Amino acid sequence: MHDPIAHLNADKSARQERLMELLRIASVSADSRHAGDVKLAAEWVAERFRSMGLVPEVVPTAGNPIVYAESPPVPGAPVALVYGHYDVQPPEPLELWTTPPFEPTLRDGNVYARGATDDKGQMLTHLEGAAAWLAGGNGAGDGLPLQVKFLIEGEEEVGSANLEPFVQENKDRLACDVVVISDSSQFSPGMPAITYGLRGITYYELRIRGPQRDLHSGSFGGAVTNPAVTLAKMLAAIMGDDGRVQLPGFYNDVKPLTDGERAEFASLPFEDAVFAESLGVDGLTGEAGYTTLERRWARPSFDVCGLWSGYQGEGAKTVLPAEAGAKFSFRLVPDQDPEAVTASLESFLESLKPRGIEMQLIDHHGAPGVAFPPDGPFISAASRAIEEAFDAKPVKIREGGSIPIVNTFADQLGAEVLLLGWGLDDDNTHSPNEKFCLADFHRGAAASALLWRELASLGQG
Ligand code: BES
Ligand code: ZN
Repeated sequence: MHDPIAHLNADKSARQERLMELLRIASVSADSRHAGDVKLAAEWVAERFRSMGLVPEVVPTAGNPIVYAESPPVPGAPVALVYGHYDVQPPEPLELWTTPPFEPTLRDGNVYARGATDDKGQMLTHLEGAAAWLAGGNGAGDGLPLQVKFLIEGEEEVGSANLEPFVQENKDRLACDVVVISDSSQFSPGMPAITYGLRGITYYELRIRGPQRDLHSGSFGGAVTNPAVTLAKMLAAIMGDDGRVQLPGFYNDVKPLTDGERAEFASLPFEDAVFAESLGVDGLTGEAGYTTLERRWARPSFDVCGLWSGYQGEGAKTVLPAEAGAKFSFRLVPDQDPEAVTASLESFLESLKPRGIEMQLIDHHGAPGVAFPPDGPFISAASRAIEEAFDAKPVKIREGGSIPIVNTFADQLGAEVLLLGWGLDDDNTHSPNEKFCLADFHRGAAASALLWRELASLGQG
């Protein structure tokens, strides 16, 4: 009988080479200069499906293409839908990379490249896990013990705006019992995890305009409102010294953490001092009354992601800048409504706007947070597969990042969602020198292959 794990063991170096190939494509979705690379990455994924014996479709959207493929139905077995993304975050600042972001490089058991862990490496583990089964089939897409559908998109890192309508319009085609996503992390090295909750997000850009041109700060300062000062005051007003967001109504729908969940979090091996040191900071801050894991996973937060105004060159220039701007986001917890946050933010900023200032608030994207029951047959099946591949039983955690489409999957497809992360907290996601541990890449592929077996053994219903 065909043994998918034996196949994976024999295929290790080819698998790694495939990962390197995909990592060489600079598929940065936020930056239109990379539109061609984004298309190339979609084509690469489609070609990989073809080589697995599947017949992919590259679906054009108003933004970046969606790549879809599915294996044949298997009566009596559940249907799984794999979701992942081939787009990556911008690699800047480039000068902080030890080796260039799109020249994947192996060092100390890791592959370094933008997208290594988020999400190309993790996403590929499921293609590889399925390929290992398909290799024992007739070459025309059979061989898997259950039907697996693959939905791989190119706009996750910019909010998945075009995927949402696609899911809504293709509910029948995407119908499934369980959605499988690897785009998150293990709890720590040697402690794999199943994630049952993610935070949501709302992301904005605020543009402040003052006088029609930059002014001499001596001749005009003190008489004309300074846009940079206005921006700083507005941003500072959003968060109180107690780490709480000051927008009216912001916490209205935030459910308190249960004692049970707080105890679960507290039972995980985590030390603030070690965590702080790993980040190069001399201490941690945040909302009073909550532990660090609670604040990272299950409480909302506010972050400025970009900030600009005035003179940034060498030396001093006395200027009252004509404009100032910021990009910032709120991480949300389940039940918080991104649109209600936007409405509250708009009126809050309006109330702070001084004379002499024009303001424009751009709403870039938003998605609610999710939290699922942390047990059930699918979670148990995933737990068995992970334990076998990683040689450790996974712990159940929540995480603070966002995967915008997860909520839509649960709502529109009525499917359970399994978040099985193979990454690590120190993978430098969204930061220079992103990496992915190669051993975890191979273990992830094995866990995926075993997951297909475990899910199939559940039978239908
Ligand atoms: N892989 C992350 C999501 C993630 C991060 C899950 C950390 C668990 C822990 C994903 O690719 C991502 O970065 N998403 C964006 C979404 C946003 C741009 C809409 C995020 O969270 O910033
Ligand atoms: Zn990401």
